[in-house]
Amino acid sequence: MSEKSRIPSKFIFYLITVSVFLLILSSLFLLQSSNTSFIPRSVFDLILVNGTSVYFDPHVKKEPIKRPFASSEVSQVDAVKPSKRISESACQVSNSSKKLGSVGRKKMIVCDSNQALLRVFMYELPPEFHFGLLGWKGMENQTWPRRIPPYPGGLNLQHSIEYWLTLDLLSSDIPNVVRPCSVVRVHNSSQADVIFVPFFSSLSYNRHSMLHGKEKVSVNKKLQDKLVQFLMGQDEWKRKGGNDHLIVAHHPNSMLNARRKLGSAMFVLADFGRYPAEIANLEKDIIAPYRHLVRTVPSSKSATFKERPVLVYFRGTIYRKDGGVIRQELYYLLKDEKDVDFNFGSIQGNGVNKASQGMASSKFCLNTAGDTPSSNRLFDAIASHCVPVIISDEIELPFEDVLDYSQFCIFVRGADAVKRGYLLKLLRGINEDKWTKMWERLKEIVHHFEYQYPSQPGDAVDMIWQAVSRKVSSVQFRFHRKKRYDRSRLVV
Ligand SMILES: *[C@@H]1O[C@H](CO)[C@@H](O)[C@H](O)[C@H]1NC(C)=O
Ligand SMILES: *[C@@H]1O[C@H](CO)[C@@H](O)[C@H](O)[C@H]1NC(C)=O
Ligand SMILES: *[C@@H]1O[C@H](CO)[C@@H](O)[C@H](O)[C@H]1NC(C)=O
Ligand SMILES: *[C@@H]1O[C@H](CO)[C@@H](O)[C@H](O)[C@H]1NC(C)=O
Repeated sequence: MSEKSRIPSKFIFYLITVSVFLLILSSLFLLQSSNTSFIPRSVFDLILVNGTSVYFDPHVKKEPIKRPFASSEVSQVDAVKPSKRISESACQVSNSSKKLGSVGRKKMIVCDSNQALLRVFMYELPPEFHFGLLGWKGMENQTWPRRIPPYPGGLNLQHSIEYWLTLDLLSSDIPNVVRPCSVVRVHNSSQADVIFVPFFSSLSYNRHSMLHGKEKVSVNKKLQDKLVQFLMGQDEWKRKGGNDHLIVAHHPNSMLNARRKLGSAMFVLADFGRYPAEIANLEKDIIAPYRHLVRTVPSSKSATFKERPVLVYFRGTIYRKDGGVIRQELYYLLKDEKDVDFNFGSIQGNGVNKASQGMASSKFCLNTAGDTPSSNRLFDAIASHCVPVIISDEIELPFEDVLDYSQFCIFVRGADAVKRGYLLKLLRGINEDKWTKMWERLKEIVHHFEYQYPSQPGDAVDMIWQAVSRKVSSVQFRFHRKKRYDRSRLVV
């Protein structure tokens, strides 16, 4: 062999060795320096350890994501323990994340407050206003819990909206909780679009409106008085007269004492039934769904038209005060029909299971006005993919500016519903094709009504924040108009 041929092969050998070495070095470096890379190490940890679902870039057009819902996996309403639920859902997703396998292809980012739909400042209210009501006691001066205390089950849960929204804001500060970036919590109120008041008003009403022992004033009223006093003293409140404050008062009787004084704020409500129009109205307030009590039927197991033997299902109390007269009349009209299932009684205890079964095997579920225009029943029907028949002229529906309820609900005016034969003729006239279209649509939109932690794109928590962000500009508009002739700022 000549010298000439040996030198190049040696050279190539060295070249390969050096480049392999450089390759290994650079990949090691990339892994190490993940703090400064676009994908923080915590995201990797989360995906590998917790196996939580893939991150979806909220700035990309959102597609309806069909996923098994965390909340639907836990069916015993009376014993829902969110901490348990979180670990269960983590388990459940860790299996499926392997199937997804597309983690690397999805863009991962940390929420950026400049790009968020909504920047929210949350008051550091003492725990007696929020997690203290769940029996949580922190260390001295500790405002927020590290482990999430469970929200009480049973009927309380239907108004637990305050809890899910607060948890979502708290998790906005935890880098490895993967959630939509619609809302980002900011710690400087001047940078916020909205000021959130973390008062668990529904729980306060449900648990503390009775007088105990020698109390002259209930804890619920005391908290509301304290809250009013606190808010009136805040610069944040004075700045815009409370217009940019967000207060959750989902139980129709919550905030009864304070609602008038805080009426300039935006409310998150179940309906407007017990509010005068100047205190609560669609222009500034948000209608949020009840948290449904029956378990969500998985899309793949949802019974079809032919598999649902019952035409019309209703469960609840038949005799109601106020607007509930229609129920009674309907009952007498329908009770003897063979494919109608009119059930008495509350949904508490085993009632939930019965309602789950009943709704999941019925084509149509009746939602008639009770003592308030809205009720949990509508959201139970949606979770069961039972086409809701809404007989409640005054009802306001969540997210109706983005959701067309006529695609998956039947609306019947109260006056028509009580005409003999009207309702059944209407419903029997809806053939399999038409019904199936509505049922398919129900399966597409059901995830908008799921409350869960961590929140997922398009779920109820995310939808509420998006709805708030759509109100912000009209609130701002009204506030600016009011200032036109305000001379006080001209006086030094
Ligand atoms: C994810 O796992 C890490 C490490 O095990 C843990 O510290 C963190 O709390 C988990 N996050 C969630 C959302 O479960
Ligand atoms: C899937 O998760 C369940 C718990 O939900 C666990 O028992 C099972 O071993 C997991 N399977 C795999 C393949 O990880
Ligand atoms: C709690 O806050 C008070 C007032 O700011 C302070 O004096 C006290 O030292 C704090 N206690 C603890 C344990 O940090
Ligand atoms: C809060 O934000 C405002 C406006 O961006 C800024 O002027 C102010 O200095 C900030 N305050 C603090 C404490 O960072």
